[in-house]
Amino acid sequence: MKSGVFLVFEGIEGSGKSTQAELLTKALTEKDVEVDLTREPGGTEVGDKIRAVLLDSSLDEMHPRTELLLYLAARAEHIAKRIRRKLFVDKAVVICDRYMLSTLAYQAGGRKIDVKTVSRLGKFATGGLDPDLTVLVDLDVERAFARLDRTHDRIEKAGTEFHLRVRKAYLEFARRSPARIRVFDGAKEKMTLHEEIKEVVYDLLTRKGIL
Ligand SMILES: Nc1ncnc2c1ncn2[C@@H]1O[C@H](COP(=O)(O)OP(=O)(O)OP(=O)(O)O)[C@@H](O)[C@H]1O
Ligand SMILES: [Mg+2]
Repeated sequence: MKSGVFLVFEGIEGSGKSTQAELLTKALTEKDVEVDLTREPGGTEVGDKIRAVLLDSSLDEMHPRTELLLYLAARAEHIAKRIRRKLFVDKAVVICDRYMLSTLAYQAGGRKIDVKTVSRLGKFATGGLDPDLTVLVDLDVERAFARLDRTHDRIEKAGTEFHLRVRKAYLEFARRSPARIRVFDGAKEKMTLHEEIKEVVYDLLTRKGIL
């Protein structure tokens, strides 16, 4: 095996990404596969500090470019200090809760920053490291928000119109890259969804010689 496998979970807030990322981590761990479950922004000491700034609901006036660069700064650190080692040294399965597609959907789709710029800066931050597979858990904004009972953080406070654009952008990227981004129906019961995601992921891991 040359390297590990990089899996990413994406979707709007409340779609069920973290629930599914955790279920998959548990299932793979039970099969004795080495898994590193991590999340963005965060996953490193510096990244977690950047995360605290990004999600601080008292800071609602951050400029969109500042926000973009903070997400990418956290990601550069994550790739350099954690993900590359896990993939290429430990040859683990890395499961990342949000990655570059979040930035494309939120900062380009949601905040309307030019998509080419986001993409170019993203490549600089990641060194061009793309996931082997992205699981997009799709759910309509109304249902997703109805699931969130906690006090809305800064990003969630951005409003319905913003999140409608984010969802639309996610689906548009998925439509253009159907092999790399697989869409799942987040309205399904969580164990049903888990089984569907497992089928696709296990197929990939079998092809990669991990299962
Ligand atoms: N398939 C499902 N059906 C119904 N409820 C679900 C389902 N999946 C998750 N939930 C519930 O919805 C809420 C949000 O789920 P979760 O935290 O996994 O979403 P998320 O996409 O990670 O959200 P965020 O972006 O805010 O981190 C949780 O209370 C969770 O238990
Ligand atoms: Mg989550």
